[in-house]
Amino acid sequence: MKIIIVVGARPNFMKVGPILRAITAYNSVAAQGSCVLQPILVHTGQHYDAVMSDAFFTDLGLPKPDIFLGVGSGSHAVQTGEIMRRFEQVLVESSPDVMVVVGDVNSTLACALVAAKMNPRPMIAHVEAGLRSFDRDMPEESNRVVTDHLADLLFVTEPSGLTNLSREGIPAERVFFVGNTMIDTLLTFAKKVDASEVLSGLGLYDPYQGNGHRPTLRPYALLTLHRPANVDERGALLEIIEGLQELASSCEIIFPAHPRTQSRIHAHGLEAYFRFEAHHDSAPASGIRLIDPKGYLDFVCLMKNARLIVTDSGGIQEESICLGVPCVTLRENTERPVTLAEGINVLGGVRRDGIRRAVRQQLARKQSTQMPEMWDGKAAGRIVEVLASFMPFPHNHASALEQSAAAVLGTDMSTLQETTADRQSTASVGSTVDRMVGAAEAVIRVLRLR
Ligand code: UD1
Repeated sequence: MKIIIVVGARPNFMKVGPILRAITAYNSVAAQGSCVLQPILVHTGQHYDAVMSDAFFTDLGLPKPDIFLGVGSGSHAVQTGEIMRRFEQVLVESSPDVMVVVGDVNSTLACALVAAKMNPRPMIAHVEAGLRSFDRDMPEESNRVVTDHLADLLFVTEPSGLTNLSREGIPAERVFFVGNTMIDTLLTFAKKVDASEVLSGLGLYDPYQGNGHRPTLRPYALLTLHRPANVDERGALLEIIEGLQELASSCEIIFPAHPRTQSRIHAHGLEAYFRFEAHHDSAPASGIRLIDPKGYLDFVCLMKNARLIVTDSGGIQEESICLGVPCVTLRENTERPVTLAEGINVLGGVRRDGIRRAVRQQLARKQSTQMPEMWDGKAAGRIVEVLASFMPFPHNHASALEQSAAAVLGTDMSTLQETTADRQSTASVGSTVDRMVGAAEAVIRVLRLR
């Protein structure tokens, strides 16, 4: 069964790594290697810089993409349209059985839209389905809603996803609560994260005193900021920077800044609020230090050792609660309400007073981890189990299953046997009886989905 897996932007890479590994694991125990899942990794090139893309492939041990579309940056319409134009050709040439998209970026929506209009249409699987901020001003919210309504299989990370999808009328048969593949990655790479040298590289240890004491890590906060609503307009960005001044006067804020944010800071003439030093030996212990974005391992190391995380990212809220580091989210809402349950993450809003209050509150908080239900490192395995359960028919699942449904429902067993044997020509799965049972089960599952 051919499975196209799409990545496009930074937050996608850590979500697909575990799925690729789970496919390899599945194949290694599949019936004599005959009934394998064949992944095809497609990178749209929405993110293309070494620091936004390549570093993640290296850190996460991801295979080189089989297909790179090289789309690059542009307005939403241009970027989405260009991904669609180039991805259509990929689907025509490879005719996959399944297409997997993750998260809520433009690449997710664009590829789902193309797949939905193909004939025959691959089954569309959306990983991280059902999240809703209920804020239609966020481009990601449109991406989430439309992708979910195009998808055949919806893999959900937290209970709110189940509620949201049910409220929107998506049949429960299509929805699978599997956990969070981004947390699979966090757990898998925990040891490698500890080996990162980013803290000493940034000079975050107090210098060795020569009296037998080991160097100590200075308390620091970690900041990320990239949402257009927070950085594109000077007034909005300034409001946030002002809100962080009290924190910056008590501890250093390390700020690995997204390329968009860096360019806006320069365009708005706000450089005076930041220090631009990759490294320093003496302890400044205050101020906002702006550095280039970090790769996965270094960034998680920075999160894990921070006194406080301040962010407008979606995924970082989830990682912070699992690492047990208090988090202030610079937004009025979150599509990930499970992160708010125990107060490790709070919404600080985007106004200076609210940010100051939330920062004080979180600095007073003790570290404690929260592992939401199913965030156990096994989400990708569950996803692959579901995908594999649709395998008996290697190609064109719709027509094959319709024929076999007719066989199951209306004709005798020999007709069904003939149908399944025919469909299994490239994927023999043991005895005829096993094939027939597998076929019948798949027919039932797909009929429920339609
Ligand atoms: C995208 C996602 C957002 C995600 C974020 C993570 C959408 C709608 N948004 O936002 O959900 O949280 O990625 O980073 O898909 N740029 C570079 N180099 C790169 C990539 C981008 O310099 O490798 C700059 C370009 O100036 C570009 C700008 O960043 O115009 C914005 O990039 P884009 O992919 O459009 O959106 P993000 O803000 O990164």
